[in-house]
Amino acid sequence: MAIAGASGYAGGELLRLLLAHPELGVGTVTAHSKAGDRLIAHHPQLIELADRTLEPTTAEALAGHDVVILALPHGTSAQVAAQLPDDVLVLDCGADHRLTDAAAWQRFYGTEHAGSWPYGLPELVRKDGGKQRDALPGAKRIAVPGCNVTAVTLALAPGLAAGVVAPDDIVAVLACGTSGAGKSLKPHLLASEIMGAASPYAVGGVHRHIPEIQQNLQLASGGAPVTLSFTPTLVPMSRGILATVTAKLSGDAGSVRAAWADAYADEPFVHLLPEGQWPTTAAVLGANTAHVQVTVDEAAGRVVAIAAIDNLAKGTAGAAIQSANLALGLPETLGLPTTGVAP
Ligand SMILES: NC(=O)c1ccc[n+]([C@@H]2O[C@H](COP(=O)([O-])OP(=O)(O)OC[C@H]3O[C@@H](n4cnc5c(N)ncnc54)[C@H](OP(=O)(O)O)[C@@H]3O)[C@@H](O)[C@H]2O)c1
Repeated sequence: MAIAGASGYAGGELLRLLLAHPELGVGTVTAHSKAGDRLIAHHPQLIELADRTLEPTTAEALAGHDVVILALPHGTSAQVAAQLPDDVLVLDCGADHRLTDAAAWQRFYGTEHAGSWPYGLPELVRKDGGKQRDALPGAKRIAVPGCNVTAVTLALAPGLAAGVVAPDDIVAVLACGTSGAGKSLKPHLLASEIMGAASPYAVGGVHRHIPEIQQNLQLASGGAPVTLSFTPTLVPMSRGILATVTAKLSGDAGSVRAAWADAYADEPFVHLLPEGQWPTTAAVLGANTAHVQVTVDEAAGRVVAIAAIDNLAKGTAGAAIQSANLALGLPETLGLPTTGVAP
Protein backbone atom coordinates (compact mmCIF):
# COMPACT_ATOMS: atom_id res chain seq x y z
CA MET A 1 0.00 0.00 0.00
CA ALA A 2 1.32 3.49 -0.85
CA ILE A 3 0.62 6.54 1.29
CA ALA A 4 0.59 9.95 -0.40
CA GLY A 5 0.95 12.79 2.09
CA ALA A 6 2.93 10.62 4.50
CA SER A 7 4.64 13.60 6.16
CA GLY A 8 1.28 14.94 7.44
CA TYR A 9 -0.80 13.99 10.46
CA ALA A 10 -3.26 11.72 8.62
CA GLY A 11 -0.39 10.07 6.74
CA GLY A 12 1.51 9.45 9.96
CA GLU A 13 -1.52 7.87 11.61
CA LEU A 14 -2.12 5.68 8.57
CA LEU A 15 1.44 4.41 8.84
CA ARG A 16 1.14 3.81 12.60
CA LEU A 17 -1.97 1.70 12.08
CA LEU A 18 -0.59 -0.12 9.04
CA LEU A 19 2.46 -1.27 11.01
CA ALA A 20 0.05 -3.37 13.11
CA HIS A 21 -2.00 -4.66 10.16
CA PRO A 22 -1.41 -8.34 9.36
CA GLU A 23 -2.30 -8.14 5.64
CA LEU A 24 -1.48 -4.62 4.43
CA GLY A 25 2.14 -3.56 4.16
CA VAL A 26 3.72 -0.13 3.77
CA GLY A 27 5.09 0.58 0.29
CA THR A 28 6.01 3.98 -1.11
CA VAL A 29 5.59 7.02 1.13
CA THR A 30 5.35 10.42 -0.53
CA ALA A 31 5.28 14.09 0.44
CA HIS A 32 5.46 17.55 -1.12
CA SER A 33 7.77 20.13 0.51
CA LYS A 34 9.34 17.36 2.64
CA ALA A 35 10.10 15.06 -0.32
CA GLY A 36 13.68 13.82 -0.04
CA ASP A 37 13.60 13.89 3.79
CA ARG A 38 13.70 10.79 5.92
CA LEU A 39 10.19 9.86 7.07
CA ILE A 40 11.35 9.56 10.67
CA ALA A 41 12.41 13.22 10.71
CA HIS A 42 8.70 14.09 10.59
CA HIS A 43 7.28 11.06 12.42
CA PRO A 44 9.72 10.05 15.17
CA GLN A 45 7.08 7.62 16.48
CA LEU A 46 7.46 5.44 13.36
CA ILE A 47 10.76 3.86 14.39
CA GLU A 48 10.09 0.70 12.34
CA LEU A 49 10.14 2.85 9.20
CA ALA A 50 13.39 4.62 10.08
CA ASP A 51 15.00 3.61 6.79
CA ARG A 52 12.25 5.16 4.60
CA THR A 53 12.67 8.31 2.52
CA LEU A 54 9.76 10.48 1.39
CA GLU A 55 9.37 10.56 -2.38
CA PRO A 56 7.64 13.30 -4.41
CA THR A 57 3.89 12.76 -4.85
CA THR A 58 3.69 11.66 -8.49
CA ALA A 59 1.71 8.98 -10.32
CA GLU A 60 5.02 7.28 -11.12
CA ALA A 61 6.02 7.07 -7.45
CA LEU A 62 2.59 5.68 -6.53
CA ALA A 63 2.55 3.10 -9.37
CA GLY A 64 2.77 -0.63 -8.72
CA HIS A 65 0.68 -0.74 -5.53
CA ASP A 66 -2.66 -2.54 -5.10
CA VAL A 67 -3.87 0.18 -2.72
CA VAL A 68 -3.09 3.91 -2.58
CA ILE A 69 -4.31 6.15 0.24
CA LEU A 70 -4.27 9.89 -0.44
CA ALA A 71 -3.77 12.03 2.68
CA LEU A 72 -3.43 15.28 0.75
CA PRO A 73 -5.03 18.73 0.88
CA HIS A 74 -8.40 18.91 -0.87
CA GLY A 75 -7.98 19.90 -4.49
CA THR A 76 -4.67 18.06 -4.73
CA SER A 77 -6.04 14.59 -4.14
CA ALA A 78 -8.45 14.71 -7.11
CA GLN A 79 -5.59 15.66 -9.43
CA VAL A 80 -3.43 12.79 -8.20
CA ALA A 81 -6.32 10.29 -8.18
CA ALA A 82 -7.16 11.07 -11.81
CA GLN A 83 -3.72 9.77 -12.81
CA LEU A 84 -4.03 6.40 -11.03
CA PRO A 85 -5.18 3.24 -12.86
CA ASP A 86 -8.81 2.11 -12.48
CA ASP A 87 -7.85 -1.28 -11.05
CA VAL A 88 -5.98 0.22 -8.07
CA LEU A 89 -7.99 0.70 -4.86
CA VAL A 90 -7.72 4.43 -4.08
CA LEU A 91 -8.97 5.93 -0.81
CA ASP A 92 -9.09 9.71 -0.53
CA CYS A 93 -8.86 11.13 3.00
CA GLY A 94 -9.47 14.60 1.56
CA ALA A 95 -12.85 16.09 0.71
CA ASP A 96 -12.65 15.99 -3.10
CA HIS A 97 -14.91 12.99 -3.71
CA ARG A 98 -17.29 13.08 -0.73
CA LEU A 99 -20.12 15.31 -1.93
CA THR A 100 -22.70 14.07 -4.42
CA ASP A 101 -24.10 17.58 -4.98
CA ALA A 102 -21.85 19.58 -7.34
CA ALA A 103 -23.60 22.85 -6.39
CA ALA A 104 -22.87 22.27 -2.70
CA TRP A 105 -19.23 21.57 -3.56
CA GLN A 106 -19.03 24.77 -5.58
CA ARG A 107 -20.65 26.80 -2.77
CA PHE A 108 -18.36 25.57 0.01
CA TYR A 109 -15.10 24.88 -1.87
CA GLY A 110 -15.36 27.26 -4.83
CA THR A 111 -13.68 24.94 -7.35
CA GLU A 112 -14.83 22.48 -9.97
CA HIS A 113 -16.50 19.36 -8.53
CA ALA A 114 -14.37 16.25 -9.07
CA GLY A 115 -17.34 13.86 -8.77
CA SER A 116 -18.32 11.55 -5.95
CA TRP A 117 -17.03 8.15 -4.86
CA PRO A 118 -18.58 5.48 -2.60
CA TYR A 119 -18.57 6.97 0.88
CA GLY A 120 -16.45 5.25 3.52
CA LEU A 121 -18.57 5.37 6.66
CA PRO A 122 -19.70 1.74 7.00
CA GLU A 123 -21.86 2.39 10.08
CA LEU A 124 -23.98 5.13 8.47
CA VAL A 125 -27.60 3.95 8.87
CA ARG A 126 -30.04 4.50 6.04
CA LYS A 127 -33.77 4.93 6.35
CA ASP A 128 -34.33 1.75 4.31
CA GLY A 129 -32.62 -0.28 7.05
CA GLY A 130 -29.36 -0.79 5.17
CA LYS A 131 -25.98 0.65 6.03
CA GLN A 132 -23.30 2.34 3.99
CA ARG A 133 -21.04 -0.72 4.39
CA ASP A 134 -23.16 -2.41 1.66
CA ALA A 135 -21.57 -0.06 -0.92
CA LEU A 136 -17.95 -0.88 -0.12
CA PRO A 137 -17.06 -4.52 -0.97
CA GLY A 138 -15.21 -4.55 -4.29
CA ALA A 139 -15.12 -0.74 -4.57
CA LYS A 140 -12.03 0.69 -6.30
CA ARG A 141 -12.53 4.28 -5.19
CA ILE A 142 -13.59 5.33 -1.67
CA ALA A 143 -14.11 8.79 -0.19
CA VAL A 144 -13.07 8.76 3.47
CA PRO A 145 -15.37 11.00 5.57
CA GLY A 146 -14.40 14.23 7.29
CA CYS A 147 -13.57 13.87 10.98
CA ASN A 148 -16.21 16.27 12.34
CA VAL A 149 -18.68 14.70 9.93
CA THR A 150 -18.05 11.24 11.34
CA ALA A 151 -18.65 12.43 14.90
CA VAL A 152 -21.89 14.29 14.14
CA THR A 153 -23.24 11.60 11.83
CA LEU A 154 -22.61 8.74 14.22
CA ALA A 155 -24.12 10.78 17.06
CA LEU A 156 -27.46 11.52 15.39
CA ALA A 157 -28.16 9.28 12.38
CA PRO A 158 -29.92 6.46 14.31
CA GLY A 159 -32.55 8.90 15.61
CA LEU A 160 -33.32 10.20 12.12
CA ALA A 161 -33.50 6.71 10.63
CA ALA A 162 -35.93 5.65 13.38
CA GLY A 163 -37.97 8.86 13.09
CA VAL A 164 -37.59 9.80 16.76
CA VAL A 165 -35.92 13.14 16.02
CA ALA A 166 -36.89 15.82 13.50
CA PRO A 167 -34.45 16.76 10.71
CA ASP A 168 -35.36 20.47 10.56
CA ASP A 169 -33.66 21.91 13.66
CA ILE A 170 -30.36 20.17 14.35
CA VAL A 171 -27.67 21.92 16.39
CA ALA A 172 -24.12 20.56 16.65
CA VAL A 173 -21.35 22.06 18.79
CA LEU A 174 -17.97 20.38 18.77
CA ALA A 175 -14.79 20.47 20.82
CA CYS A 176 -11.94 19.67 18.44
CA GLY A 177 -8.27 18.87 18.96
CA THR A 178 -5.74 20.86 16.96
CA SER A 179 -4.40 17.97 14.82
CA GLY A 180 -7.67 18.17 12.87
CA ALA A 181 -6.23 21.26 11.20
CA GLY A 182 -3.17 19.41 9.85
CA LYS A 183 0.54 19.90 10.45
CA SER A 184 1.28 23.02 8.44
CA LEU A 185 2.26 26.14 10.37
CA LYS A 186 -0.62 28.49 11.19
CA PRO A 187 -0.47 31.34 13.74
CA HIS A 188 -3.78 30.42 15.41
CA LEU A 189 -2.40 26.93 16.11
CA LEU A 190 0.73 28.14 17.92
CA ALA A 191 1.00 26.77 21.44
CA SER A 192 0.75 30.26 22.92
CA GLU A 193 -2.60 30.79 21.17
CA ILE A 194 -4.03 27.35 21.96
CA MET A 195 -2.83 26.52 25.45
CA GLY A 196 -5.39 27.55 28.02
CA ALA A 197 -7.90 28.76 25.39
CA ALA A 198 -10.99 27.41 23.65
CA SER A 199 -11.80 29.21 20.41
CA PRO A 200 -14.70 28.79 17.98
CA TYR A 201 -13.94 28.87 14.24
CA ALA A 202 -15.85 28.76 10.94
CA VAL A 203 -18.94 30.06 12.79
CA GLY A 204 -22.23 30.90 11.10
CA GLY A 205 -22.89 28.16 8.57
CA VAL A 206 -19.63 28.42 6.64
CA HIS A 207 -17.69 25.30 7.71
CA ARG A 208 -16.98 22.97 4.79
CA HIS A 209 -18.18 19.92 6.66
CA ILE A 210 -21.77 21.21 6.75
CA PRO A 211 -22.95 19.89 3.34
CA GLU A 212 -21.31 16.53 4.01
CA ILE A 213 -23.10 16.16 7.35
CA GLN A 214 -26.37 17.17 5.69
CA GLN A 215 -25.80 14.61 2.95
CA ASN A 216 -25.33 11.84 5.53
CA LEU A 217 -28.22 12.86 7.76
CA GLN A 218 -30.49 13.16 4.74
CA LEU A 219 -29.62 9.59 3.81
CA ALA A 220 -30.50 8.55 7.36
CA SER A 221 -33.78 10.46 7.35
CA GLY A 222 -34.89 9.05 4.00
CA GLY A 223 -34.43 12.25 2.00
CA ALA A 224 -36.06 14.84 4.25
CA PRO A 225 -34.22 18.19 4.09
CA VAL A 226 -31.85 18.67 7.00
CA THR A 227 -31.33 22.04 8.68
CA LEU A 228 -28.10 22.15 10.63
CA SER A 229 -26.38 24.75 12.78
CA PHE A 230 -22.76 23.61 13.18
CA THR A 231 -20.12 25.24 15.39
CA PRO A 232 -16.69 23.72 15.98
CA THR A 233 -14.44 24.92 18.81
CA LEU A 234 -10.69 24.41 18.99
CA VAL A 235 -9.63 23.19 22.43
CA PRO A 236 -6.17 22.57 23.86
CA MET A 237 -5.78 18.88 23.07
CA SER A 238 -3.81 17.40 20.18
CA ARG A 239 -6.35 14.75 19.18
CA GLY A 240 -10.02 14.11 19.67
CA ILE A 241 -13.49 15.40 18.84
CA LEU A 242 -16.43 15.59 21.21
CA ALA A 243 -19.62 16.34 19.27
CA THR A 244 -22.75 17.40 21.15
CA VAL A 245 -25.73 17.22 18.82
CA THR A 246 -29.31 18.11 19.70
CA ALA A 247 -32.53 17.81 17.71
CA LYS A 248 -36.26 18.09 18.36
CA LEU A 249 -37.87 14.99 19.74
CA SER A 250 -40.44 13.83 17.19
CA GLY A 251 -41.64 10.55 18.61
CA ASP A 252 -42.06 8.73 21.85
CA ALA A 253 -39.30 9.61 24.34
CA GLY A 254 -39.40 6.01 25.54
CA SER A 255 -38.23 4.68 22.15
CA VAL A 256 -35.22 6.97 21.75
CA ARG A 257 -32.57 4.80 23.38
CA ALA A 258 -33.73 1.70 21.49
CA ALA A 259 -33.12 3.49 18.16
CA TRP A 260 -29.43 3.95 18.99
CA ALA A 261 -29.08 0.54 20.66
CA ASP A 262 -30.54 -1.23 17.60
CA ALA A 263 -28.45 0.75 15.11
CA TYR A 264 -25.16 0.01 16.84
CA ALA A 265 -25.82 -3.39 18.50
CA ASP A 266 -23.60 -5.29 16.05
CA GLU A 267 -21.08 -2.58 15.27
CA PRO A 268 -17.50 -3.41 16.22
CA PHE A 269 -16.35 0.21 16.27
CA VAL A 270 -19.37 2.22 17.44
CA HIS A 271 -20.51 1.74 21.02
CA LEU A 272 -23.57 3.10 22.78
CA LEU A 273 -22.25 3.51 26.33
CA PRO A 274 -24.16 2.22 29.35
CA GLU A 275 -26.95 4.57 30.35
CA GLY A 276 -25.70 7.61 32.25
CA GLN A 277 -22.08 7.28 31.10
CA TRP A 278 -20.90 10.04 28.78
CA PRO A 279 -18.29 9.79 26.02
CA THR A 280 -14.85 11.30 26.55
CA THR A 281 -12.14 11.89 23.97
CA ALA A 282 -9.51 10.24 26.19
CA ALA A 283 -11.34 6.92 26.09
CA VAL A 284 -11.09 6.68 22.28
CA LEU A 285 -7.58 8.08 21.83
CA GLY A 286 -5.65 6.02 19.29
CA ALA A 287 -8.60 3.68 18.68
CA ASN A 288 -10.82 3.24 15.63
CA THR A 289 -13.73 3.58 17.99
CA ALA A 290 -16.64 5.96 18.46
CA HIS A 291 -18.33 6.21 21.84
CA VAL A 292 -21.92 7.46 21.72
CA GLN A 293 -24.53 8.37 24.32
CA VAL A 294 -28.06 9.70 23.97
CA THR A 295 -30.74 11.07 26.27
CA VAL A 296 -33.94 13.10 26.15
CA ASP A 297 -34.11 16.61 27.59
CA GLU A 298 -37.83 16.47 28.30
CA ALA A 299 -38.15 20.12 29.37
CA ALA A 300 -36.54 21.33 26.13
CA GLY A 301 -38.30 18.71 23.99
CA ARG A 302 -34.95 17.77 22.51
CA VAL A 303 -32.81 14.70 22.11
CA VAL A 304 -29.17 15.16 23.10
CA ALA A 305 -26.66 12.82 21.45
CA ILE A 306 -22.93 12.94 22.10
CA ALA A 307 -20.13 11.18 20.25
CA ALA A 308 -16.38 11.05 20.91
CA ILE A 309 -13.81 9.98 18.33
CA ASP A 310 -10.11 10.36 17.71
CA ASN A 311 -10.04 12.57 14.61
CA LEU A 312 -6.91 10.86 13.29
CA ALA A 313 -8.08 7.28 13.99
CA LYS A 314 -11.85 6.73 13.47
CA GLY A 315 -11.92 10.27 12.04
CA THR A 316 -9.60 9.47 9.12
CA ALA A 317 -6.79 6.85 9.09
CA GLY A 318 -8.71 4.11 10.89
CA ALA A 319 -11.78 4.78 8.77
CA ALA A 320 -9.66 4.50 5.62
CA ILE A 321 -8.21 1.14 6.68
CA GLN A 322 -11.65 -0.13 7.79
CA SER A 323 -13.05 0.72 4.36
CA ALA A 324 -10.00 -0.76 2.62
CA ASN A 325 -10.56 -4.00 4.54
CA LEU A 326 -14.17 -4.10 3.29
CA ALA A 327 -13.23 -3.23 -0.29
CA LEU A 328 -10.56 -5.93 -0.37
CA GLY A 329 -12.80 -8.64 1.13
CA LEU A 330 -10.76 -8.79 4.36
CA PRO A 331 -12.45 -8.90 7.79
CA GLU A 332 -13.64 -5.34 8.45
CA THR A 333 -11.90 -5.15 11.82
CA LEU A 334 -8.53 -6.53 10.71
CA GLY A 335 -5.54 -4.70 12.21
CA LEU A 336 -7.59 -1.93 13.82
CA PRO A 337 -7.32 -1.06 17.54
CA THR A 338 -10.55 -0.68 19.52
CA THR A 339 -9.12 0.20 22.92
CA GLY A 340 -8.29 3.81 23.69
CA VAL A 341 -5.24 5.18 25.51
CA ALA A 342 -6.60 6.77 28.66
CA PRO A 343 -5.96 8.83 30.71
N1 LIG B 1 -6.07 15.86 10.41
C1 LIG B 1 -7.25 15.25 10.54
O1 LIG B 1 -7.74 15.01 11.66
C2 LIG B 1 -8.04 14.84 9.33
C3 LIG B 1 -9.23 14.17 9.52
C4 LIG B 1 -10.01 13.82 8.40
C5 LIG B 1 -9.56 14.13 7.15
N2 LIG B 1 -8.40 14.80 6.98
C6 LIG B 1 -7.97 15.14 5.62
O2 LIG B 1 -6.78 14.43 5.30
C7 LIG B 1 -5.99 15.22 4.42
C8 LIG B 1 -4.60 15.38 5.06
O3 LIG B 1 -4.76 16.07 6.27
P1 LIG B 1 -3.58 16.25 7.33
O4 LIG B 1 -4.21 16.70 8.58
O5 LIG B 1 -2.71 15.06 7.35
O6 LIG B 1 -2.78 17.49 6.69
P2 LIG B 1 -1.24 17.87 6.87
O7 LIG B 1 -0.76 17.39 8.18
O8 LIG B 1 -1.12 19.31 6.56
O9 LIG B 1 -0.51 17.02 5.72
C9 LIG B 1 -0.72 17.32 4.38
C10 LIG B 1 0.10 16.40 3.51
O10 LIG B 1 -0.12 16.73 2.14
C11 LIG B 1 1.13 17.11 1.54
N3 LIG B 1 0.91 18.22 0.61
C12 LIG B 1 0.68 19.53 0.91
N4 LIG B 1 0.52 20.25 -0.22
C13 LIG B 1 0.67 19.37 -1.26
C14 LIG B 1 0.64 19.49 -2.68
N5 LIG B 1 0.40 20.67 -3.26
N6 LIG B 1 0.86 18.39 -3.41
C15 LIG B 1 1.09 17.18 -2.84
N7 LIG B 1 1.13 17.01 -1.50
C16 LIG B 1 0.91 18.09 -0.73
C17 LIG B 1 2.04 17.51 2.68
O11 LIG B 1 3.38 17.31 2.26
P3 LIG B 1 4.60 18.19 2.89
O12 LIG B 1 4.49 18.07 4.37
O13 LIG B 1 5.81 17.48 2.35
O14 LIG B 1 4.46 19.58 2.37
C18 LIG B 1 1.60 16.51 3.76
O15 LIG B 1 2.20 15.26 3.55
C19 LIG B 1 -6.72 16.57 4.24
O16 LIG B 1 -7.46 16.54 3.07
C20 LIG B 1 -7.63 16.60 5.45
O17 LIG B 1 -8.78 17.38 5.24
C21 LIG B 1 -7.61 15.16 8.03
